[in-house]
Amino acid sequence: MHEDYISKHFYHKIKSSEITNDIYKSPTFIEYYNYATELNDLSFYKKVLGKNEKILEIGTGTGRIFTPLRKSGYNITGIELSKEMMSCIPSKFRQFVKNMSIFELGNEKKEYDAVIIPATTISLFSFAEIEKILTLLRKILKKNGNIFFDIIDSNFFLETSNQLQKESFENTTYYFTNFINGNKIVYNIYAKNHLGYSVKYMHTDQDINSLFTNFNFKKVFVESNNSYKMMHWRLGDE
Ligand SMILES: C[S@@+](CC[C@H](N)C(=O)[O-])C[C@H]1O[C@@H](n2cnc3c(N)ncnc32)[C@H](O)[C@@H]1O
Repeated sequence: MHEDYISKHFYHKIKSSEITNDIYKSPTFIEYYNYATELNDLSFYKKVLGKNEKILEIGTGTGRIFTPLRKSGYNITGIELSKEMMSCIPSKFRQFVKNMSIFELGNEKKEYDAVIIPATTISLFSFAEIEKILTLLRKILKKNGNIFFDIIDSNFFLETSNQLQKESFENTTYYFTNFINGNKIVYNIYAKNHLGYSVKYMHTDQDINSLFTNFNFKKVFVESNNSYKMMHWRLGDE
């Protein structure tokens, strides 16, 4: 239900707004959202990945990271659940993206040097789902293969919880807030009669550490970056 995920600050906007739970698909929000969350992560992925490596991106979305990496000569393929998101990728690159869910992986060989999961996609999944994901990724990653991903930093959101904030960007004023619903953090954004929300799990550092360690991954680094943490884990000898 939308109502569970709309802050009291925006109740009065529900009837008059177009509501979306996919900010990434929304032309009204996507540019501001990327700017506000400082997702300038392309250079990071270019730096840590090698052009001779076989790379898999989980949830390529509109190809924000996938397309420029492929264009720059990286040997990257991807999977994406939503056909609509994939349709934004130019067809000569889209052929390297499979329309499937991460939970259908596993039939591939142990062939990948690296898996990337950008834009806090991992925070869309529960603890139990991440356990399933790690079981599958362990099957397809080579020995000492790497996982790079970012995860929301709940401390950042807790500090501003329930505050209504606003910011102007390219001639539009965006209103936004976030609040806690159980073990999830809900983000709301409003502009121009559009109301967007996204729901992400707040996994603790202990959760992530014990999950990855149990699946024989070793932490290479964690880098805090305001609203998210960038992580690099490496699969041990199998
Ligand atoms: C936050 S977006 C990130 C898109 C892109 N990686 C980027 O960096 O801009 C998350 C993407 O994961 C996709 N996704 C969600 N659940 C998925 C699943 N179970 N299997 C594969 N893709 C999934 C969504 O459709 C969406 O395109």
